[in-house]
Amino acid sequence: MLRTHTCGELRISDVNQEVVLCGWVQRIRDKGKLIWIDMRDRYGITQLVLEEGKNPQEIIEIARKLGREYVVMTKGKVIERESKNPNIPTGEIEIDVTEINIVNSSKLPPFTIEDDTDGGDELRMKYRYLDLRRNPVKENLIQRHKVGLEVRKYLDSQGFLEIETPFLIKSTPEGARDFVVPSRMNLNEFYALPQSPQTFKQLLMVSGFDRYFQIVKCFRDEDLRADRQPEFTQIDCEMSFVTQDDILETFESMTNYLFMTINGIELEKWPRITYADAMKYYGSDKPDIRFDMRFVELTDRVKNKGFVVFDNAEIIVGIAASGCAEYTRKQLDELTEFVKRPQIGMTGLIYVKYNQDGSIKSSVDKFFSETDIQQWLDAFGAQKGDLLLLLAGETNKTRKGLCELRLEMGKRLGLRNPEIFKPLWVIDFPLLEWDDETQRFYAMHHPFTSPKPEDIPLLDSDPKAVRANAYDMVFNGVEIGGGSIRIHNKALQQKMFSLLGFTPEEAQNQFGFLMNAFEYGAPPHGGIALGFDRLNAMFGGQDSIRDFIAFPKNNAGRDVMIDAPSTIAQEQLDELHLILKKPEKE
Ligand code: AMO
Repeated sequence: MLRTHTCGELRISDVNQEVVLCGWVQRIRDKGKLIWIDMRDRYGITQLVLEEGKNPQEIIEIARKLGREYVVMTKGKVIERESKNPNIPTGEIEIDVTEINIVNSSKLPPFTIEDDTDGGDELRMKYRYLDLRRNPVKENLIQRHKVGLEVRKYLDSQGFLEIETPFLIKSTPEGARDFVVPSRMNLNEFYALPQSPQTFKQLLMVSGFDRYFQIVKCFRDEDLRADRQPEFTQIDCEMSFVTQDDILETFESMTNYLFMTINGIELEKWPRITYADAMKYYGSDKPDIRFDMRFVELTDRVKNKGFVVFDNAEIIVGIAASGCAEYTRKQLDELTEFVKRPQIGMTGLIYVKYNQDGSIKSSVDKFFSETDIQQWLDAFGAQKGDLLLLLAGETNKTRKGLCELRLEMGKRLGLRNPEIFKPLWVIDFPLLEWDDETQRFYAMHHPFTSPKPEDIPLLDSDPKAVRANAYDMVFNGVEIGGGSIRIHNKALQQKMFSLLGFTPEEAQNQFGFLMNAFEYGAPPHGGIALGFDRLNAMFGGQDSIRDFIAFPKNNAGRDVMIDAPSTIAQEQLDELHLILKKPEKE
């Protein structure tokens, strides 16, 4: 070993020890007679001290040649510091340097390698290897390592086996586009990178493995956001001979275990709420239940009383924001602008102030009597001081709009504390989703999801009403995971493909392998996949998954550090028989 200790481990009890440290120069303070150097490695920072006239002159001269991020190897004696730094674990000691070697020099980094850096996002991504020297990002990756380790420990203790599945496969539909890879040995043919190991884990159940998991990369060509990367990681699991309850309990327990071991937090029993209720009360299939502010529908009470906005609406629904009756005109205008933004697209916002003195003031006083409005307040169970905010319009759009407004109010009222964690299961998702544009059904989860047995008769008569044995794990308004009980019967699977618009030939061509496997004794099975990046971001109290991934892509799907995607050599194209499309003229 080149070093005797790391830069994070020396303490007051080590005083007088001769040590050798290796690391990077974080900071140099040259006060003329005295020079202090902060040396950093993965484990921490240790201060070196040199004094003119005391330490040998040649060492002082080397120290004066150092720059930020130089790699140095230092020998010296641990001494007690005169002015101690209580903020770092090594803050009571420093190293009286006897030897210093420059192992490697460094160009001046393009941004400061400190917790609060001056580097913008693109610059940090371009020099990600330097960004990873910064504590916040480094700590995230250390946490990610620990979470992975604990997941493996826990699932192993429950009899799960980690089995790898291939990356060069045929398309597995999960609702995104595939990334494809041309095959040199099979002319004009392509592999798809897996959007998930879904079909393989089901085949492993047919093989009898019974409890499978994998911490695995998945690839999806879709629009990117703070919580979406084109390649991301899942904790992917599947179990045989289980009910939905068994799966929910297993993964609730695993997640509780992770919270306990990683964050020392004990979670309460998770509520379960149906998709229909989630939409009715929160306007979202991933409700943030850190705060209540549930929707109350007033449709029947307020329609046909001569107020045209309500009369033309399919739904009139609202929330009560407690303590907001004192909102000013300006604040109410801001909220109105908020719901009128194109992303939300509502035409306006109706408010009712239930003032502390018991008086009522609303934006629809002209159309409704005080008795009418008092009834609304009762429906909300409103307290004095509450502000009712109502939206009216087409059901889905209005619920979505009110969901955004509820989250905004939650934020304004400080009710979305990232240190509080409120998980829940959303269950009974619809099996199918109708798409107006393409005039066909899509699987809401994926085509392998089983309908609820009692809803199977509706597959022919009212497919939209069929509920699935599908569930999502939601934390603080974020979908962390999703899964379902699967179809394990060839005839039902075929029926599902036909509902999704596949001809029998297309279904056979794309998924024949799975339906064939179902003819060889497929056990009933189901599973779930948790987004590993999202789980880590949540543990770290952040919305963006980017800084929990060592080398992420930007929102255009580019790795700006290695400059990918990029063109390939003509020889490679020739080998693959690929002809590039000429860029269209401007
Ligand atoms: P699903 O498509 O719901 O289910 O994905 C499971 C979880 O993976 C995470 N996730 C993502 N994370 C980051 N970037 C992305 N682009 C991205 N896409 C998804 C989410 C999501 O909840 N095979 C099924 C699971 C099953 O049925 O067992 C599946 O993949 O946290």
